[in-house]
Amino acid sequence: MEKVTYTLDKANRYITEQQKSVIQDFKAVNHLTAPIGWMNDPNGFIQYKGEYHLFYQYYPYDSAWGPMHWGHAKSKDLVNWEHLPVALAPDQEYDRNGCFSGSAIVKDDQLWLMYTGHIEEEDGVRQVQNMAYSEDGIHFTKIKQNPVATGEMLPEEVSFRDFRDPKVFEKDERYYSVVASQHKDQVGCIVLLGSDDLVDWHFESIFLKGEAHQGHVFECPDFFGLDGKECLIVSPMRYEREGDSFHNINSSVLFTGKVDWDSKQFIPDSVEEIDHGQDFYAPQTLVDDQGRRIMVAWMQMWGRNIPSHELGHKWAGAMTLPRQLELIDGKLYQRILPSTETAMTPVYLNEPIRGFSRFQVEVVEGVHYQLGTTDDFLSFGYNADAEEVYIDRSHLKQAISGEETISTSRRFVSCRAEKLDVVFDCNSIEIFVNDGREVLSATYYLTGEKYLTKVS
Ligand code: FRU
Repeated sequence: MEKVTYTLDKANRYITEQQKSVIQDFKAVNHLTAPIGWMNDPNGFIQYKGEYHLFYQYYPYDSAWGPMHWGHAKSKDLVNWEHLPVALAPDQEYDRNGCFSGSAIVKDDQLWLMYTGHIEEEDGVRQVQNMAYSEDGIHFTKIKQNPVATGEMLPEEVSFRDFRDPKVFEKDERYYSVVASQHKDQVGCIVLLGSDDLVDWHFESIFLKGEAHQGHVFECPDFFGLDGKECLIVSPMRYEREGDSFHNINSSVLFTGKVDWDSKQFIPDSVEEIDHGQDFYAPQTLVDDQGRRIMVAWMQMWGRNIPSHELGHKWAGAMTLPRQLELIDGKLYQRILPSTETAMTPVYLNEPIRGFSRFQVEVVEGVHYQLGTTDDFLSFGYNADAEEVYIDRSHLKQAISGEETISTSRRFVSCRAEKLDVVFDCNSIEIFVNDGREVLSATYYLTGEKYLTKVS
């Protein structure tokens, strides 16, 4: 079989030539989507020289997952995005089957990326960590020392096959990176690597080993301090369902706790699911020059059919709204950013909604809404008896199902709702309950005018 080669030039040329053929019908206005093709995880989310940069897992050539590149966009306000050339292509031996997820850090005015090289071999896959840097924040050079971390540096109890998604950070004038892996006890674990210069990396510790019910790989870790706590975000595969949480095949969770920096171990004291909707995965955060901790995630879930792909629209996947994080009494709040608020237009009941818009309601009793037409609609609202805020996709003509053992139609969060702040873009809904104490995010594909109606 002829080997397909991927290069940056080839990807950028393809995008320029083909992006006009993308059908925009369901494509978001103010949520980042790829110009053409497939998008998954946010990568390298960072503020650099005053602008926000967001990279993403990208396959330009199809609206389905393929050998991963890094797509790239930037923004001044986190709500209007400008596409930049593809930043990484799988063009080296050490990343030959994909440039998987990773992160960014600024060092001496240069923008550095740390990412996973995915390598498929006859006896299975192998994953290694690589570095690339840029002087202008657009063109990246992969360093000659790559790979900078391989499975050989890991203790035997940790898989070298699942060793990916490094999130790099600086602490006490040293660099560290939390990396996803699997423990040989078949539970997720996070490995900590350390470096003095971003080039020479060493294994430091098993930062966190998950429990049996918490899933078997912890993908896309992120580590940061927030409001006096140390926080570890991970995206576990197959976290066991519990009450209103972890109903999707993979989940995204926040552990709060403390690090023992002598043993370099994270000691969790609480865990919560970050978003209770159908579509939220692999979040990543940055801290900006105003000290805001801001998170963005992939607004999609693995194992689902994606109507924009099935209908031949040539794109798939979007990011969530970037949300500012806050911890109050150990509970995560996700706030809508001021720049987002000013970009949204208000929604009125019984009128069609278009584009990026917002519907706010003070809740004094149960409220139930439908968005769409009489025979093709999305339902959402607050069930006061059960004390649940929900999103229900069972009346969509473009049906969406998943690999989950339960239906993916309805998702809910248990809470006493006082206020719903509902953000729509062309094919998405994000419900912020009680000023972001709970959030549910989901996608839908509605044709025709979308009317918002209240149902009794
Ligand atoms: C998470 C993930 C990562 C991996 C990437 C590949 O969604 O599976 O663990 O690096 O996607 O595209």
